[in-house]
Amino acid sequence: MSGPKTHSWIEDLNVYAAGKAKAKGDIKPVKLSANESAIGSSPMAVEAYKQAVTKLHRYPDPVYTELRIALAEKYGIEGGRIFCGVGSDDLLKVACRAYLSPGDEAIYVDHSFLMYPIAIKSVGGVPVMVDDEDYTTNVDNIISAVTDKTRIIFVANPNNPTGTYIANSEIERLWKNIPDHILLILDSAYAEFVSHDDYEAGIELVEKSNNVMMTRTFSKLYGLASLRLGWGYACKEIADTMDKTRDPFNVPSSSQAAAVAALKDVEFEKRALAFNEKWLSWLTDEVSALGLRVIASTTNFIMIKFEDEQKSAIDANEFLLSRGYILRYFKNMDLDDFLRLTVGTKDENKAVVELLKEFLGK
Ligand SMILES: Cc1ncc(COP(=O)(O)O)c(C=O)c1O
Repeated sequence: MSGPKTHSWIEDLNVYAAGKAKAKGDIKPVKLSANESAIGSSPMAVEAYKQAVTKLHRYPDPVYTELRIALAEKYGIEGGRIFCGVGSDDLLKVACRAYLSPGDEAIYVDHSFLMYPIAIKSVGGVPVMVDDEDYTTNVDNIISAVTDKTRIIFVANPNNPTGTYIANSEIERLWKNIPDHILLILDSAYAEFVSHDDYEAGIELVEKSNNVMMTRTFSKLYGLASLRLGWGYACKEIADTMDKTRDPFNVPSSSQAAAVAALKDVEFEKRALAFNEKWLSWLTDEVSALGLRVIASTTNFIMIKFEDEQKSAIDANEFLLSRGYILRYFKNMDLDDFLRLTVGTKDENKAVVELLKEFLGK
């Protein structure tokens, strides 16, 4: 029996490999593998989510009226050019559906977000991966890879899993050196964590362009990963195209309500940022003091390099798992010497450093 046959590009597709959520045996796991919020979610968002329970029989607002208003107010942007997705992952896929035909090329940088090749291949596009430089996006390498088949360029800024960022001047230089039929997607999932003056999440460039899309998420700083809510901003034509391509009722009412409340919870936002700043820097210092290389990060996670073959990343990973600590080990990304560690609670951060000490015999 042959049965239905899918496209060749779907057959070739690998399912997104999420970080582990289980440790070894029956140990209660401490999950530091998915860059989730260390301090949970905004209490106001949780309350709004609970309230939404009374309207489960209603379809959600298909155009996210309140959420667009809240985002437009917060960022001083145009509500009519905001679009939402089931996580920002979804927006990457919707953009590929809208702008890539089979055989078209889309460029992304090595050691960046695993979803790009998946989103590109899911519509028969051709992923073109270019080299980064010392784990940082290299704009010249992207420009050199542009061909007449290129339709999309993805740049995660800051980047996951490396945690590095590039200055706005570099993003502008990239934009000025590509033709305007190419869609430049600035994936700014970790934008809220960046405090460098030379960084810009993408709003400024969107305002003056007709080929730039910025994507953002409520999964990281706002601690709403389970609600799967991402948003994007672009010129009107691109925003309308995204709205036509996405599913009609794609964001549940509960997610919309929680997101609106989260945007208003300034106290939580401040607390989350201050917490992350303190512990990101503490972890960077403590792990570096153990003789491990830590890539400078502007996010809520660090990449740790294990350069001693006798004390490898894979062995460290096994050791940590045996103690219940789940970090992220990347199998097929030429990052075998690394573990990615998400900033956790105070106790988790302290415990993970102690465990690393024990593993290294220090
Ligand atoms: C760079 C980057 N972009 C996008 C996402 C997707 O986030 P979400 O789909 O939860 O909005 C992630 C999640 O880890 C990420 O690291």
